[in-house]
Amino acid sequence: MKHFINLNDVSDVKELVLEGLHQKANPLANQNLGKNKTIGLIFFNSSLRTRISTQKAAINLGMDVIVMNVGSDSWQLEFEDGVIMDQGKAEHIKEAAAVLGQYCDIIGVRAFAEFKSQEDDYREIVLESFRKYAGVPIVNLESATRHPCQSLADLITIEELKTRTRPKVVLTWVPHFKALPQAVANSFAEWVNETDYDFVITHPEGYDLAPQFVKNAKVTYSQEEAFADADFIYAKNWSSYSQYGQVLSQDPDWRITPEKMALTHNANFMHCLPVRRGLKVADEVLDSPQSAVIQQAGNRVWSVQAALKKILEEL
Ligand code: CP
Repeated sequence: MKHFINLNDVSDVKELVLEGLHQKANPLANQNLGKNKTIGLIFFNSSLRTRISTQKAAINLGMDVIVMNVGSDSWQLEFEDGVIMDQGKAEHIKEAAAVLGQYCDIIGVRAFAEFKSQEDDYREIVLESFRKYAGVPIVNLESATRHPCQSLADLITIEELKTRTRPKVVLTWVPHFKALPQAVANSFAEWVNETDYDFVITHPEGYDLAPQFVKNAKVTYSQEEAFADADFIYAKNWSSYSQYGQVLSQDPDWRITPEKMALTHNANFMHCLPVRRGLKVADEVLDSPQSAVIQQAGNRVWSVQAALKKILEEL
């Protein structure tokens, strides 16, 4: 694998899920693969899971790790071509990415949607600039539109927990007061659409995800209808795509409660974390044996370890 930026970089999703499960069973089996190789992790935004799980995976593969927070640890970066840089941004991505590529064998980048322009966010300016100028493989640590390390961990978790060959998997919108990106929901839909799971997306009107991510998934505005006979409830808030970045609803009726989970086929509860208790999901659900959120977060190590292994094998 050359990069791990989006699903187009993955030749076989099923095989990559199996690789993740294999890495989990044999964490140090490839500890010489990354020997004398350095991964640089570049964060434009905060992180707990992605930062630590990627460091852990890289260490398991024998790599050295360097972490940098853009802005606080480095110069502010300019991404536009042809501008006169007479404002606050001191360095252009053309030099910054190329220089980082001199120091690192692989670069991981986290850069959320900025919500200034739907077109710019969906063009993935930051990740694609790193791909263009760094000259080394790039790993997406959550970009404006996608979070593949999370989605691969999600599929690994579903494979571990499923009790039916073709589980019913529900992606449900949950309320939040703040405008959050669509990246996790987009990516989850994109990856689940590569499986043969029965996939349903439910959200209030106005929250349809971009069609290229929804594809042939069933979409319903009735959360109760979606939950019937479900094996997995994947909760996530996202802001509107059609009215880009807007919060159109904070309806608390979309919160996940024990009563709603009772409609399901004894479903596991999933969330990428961090999660705001009480706002999106009741404590009783998060603290129940059906909650898979810690296992899901644990699997973040094995998802990125599988992706890094594939990249290292081609370096
Ligand atoms: N799920 C996830 O990406 O968590 P962090 O934002 O803490 O990395």
